[in-house]
Amino acid sequence: MENQYILAIETSCDETAAAIIKNGTEIVSNVVASQIDSHKRFGGVVPEIASRHHVEQVTIVIEEALTQARLQPSELTAVAITEGPGLVGALLIGINAAKAFAWANHLPIVGVHHIAGHIYANNLVQPMEFPLLALVVSGGHTELVYMQEHGHFELIGETRDDAAGEAYDKVARVLNLPYPGGPHIDRLAHEAEGAVSFPRVWLEEESYDFSFSGLKSAVINYKHNMDQRGEEIVATQVAKGFQDSVVEVLTTKTLRAAREFNVKQVIAAGGVAANKGLRTALEQAFEQQGIPFYVPPLKLCTDNAAMIGAAGAKMYEAGVRGDMMMNGRPGMELKSWV
Ligand code: KG4
Ligand code: ZN
Repeated sequence: MENQYILAIETSCDETAAAIIKNGTEIVSNVVASQIDSHKRFGGVVPEIASRHHVEQVTIVIEEALTQARLQPSELTAVAITEGPGLVGALLIGINAAKAFAWANHLPIVGVHHIAGHIYANNLVQPMEFPLLALVVSGGHTELVYMQEHGHFELIGETRDDAAGEAYDKVARVLNLPYPGGPHIDRLAHEAEGAVSFPRVWLEEESYDFSFSGLKSAVINYKHNMDQRGEEIVATQVAKGFQDSVVEVLTTKTLRAAREFNVKQVIAAGGVAANKGLRTALEQAFEQQGIPFYVPPLKLCTDNAAMIGAAGAKMYEAGVRGDMMMNGRPGMELKSWV
């Protein structure tokens, strides 16, 4: 069989990325141009700045991905592009680049859901086995997704307010840490001796939903109370208290869902899956249960195009095709393609 080469492009948020994926599971090249430095001084992603960076970087990363892969456009099978969700202006830059590239090189185009991409990052590390449970934790999403087979997604729980990563970034601001705050809180939590006690939000007993805004408020209130009393907070202890709460809730609910749905494999995905505390807690919990648990290396947890290529390859195989009418879909829902 002829090799399948997918050129994948991702511009949904603050990374301009392009990658080439061979036969759905092999990374041939994976180029990420991060804009984090440009957004840092604003304490978050500024959509207009993100779009401008994408315009400047997108053709460069595509060329770099092809050069590193030593491939000509004529050797490609298809172009995969993040169709949503994300910042609409940012998405559109990638989509237009993908359409232009596909049109000029007579290639089919496949529109990929960003979260399907995060989940499929795992398929680049070892084969996904079904039924599977995915914990998706990123700056915009906190979801438990059940998969019966490739291309089948069932949302069994999601956040009712803030995403886990969003809570990390907001708490980091309270602690005067740079954006994105997740890695800094993670580091401080590991340096901590002792922890401030914050609540765990479980919601209804049966629910697989999450809520992190109450926890975020608890941290903010704690800081205000300490300020009013003229006392200094210990940042490491606040970070650890916050992280302990997030990790315990995520781990407990994921474990319960894995048992109830009797899955063969559990995977974690998204930027917050880079969190050391969370990775360790999930690894230990699932080792005890004897359920295989995987999480991709850090580089494949945060936004990248390789994951979009991994999902796009499977979609292409299943016959999914986009067209030149494709538009950015900021609120796109995760739908099954089988
Ligand atoms: O998946 P991602 O790169 O972008 C989105 O699709 O949102 O996730 C970014 C989020 C940010 O909120 C960032 O603070 C968080 O992932 N993050 C972390 C860690 N590394 C990145 N959160 C906790 N611990 C980390 N080590
Ligand atoms: Zn993401």
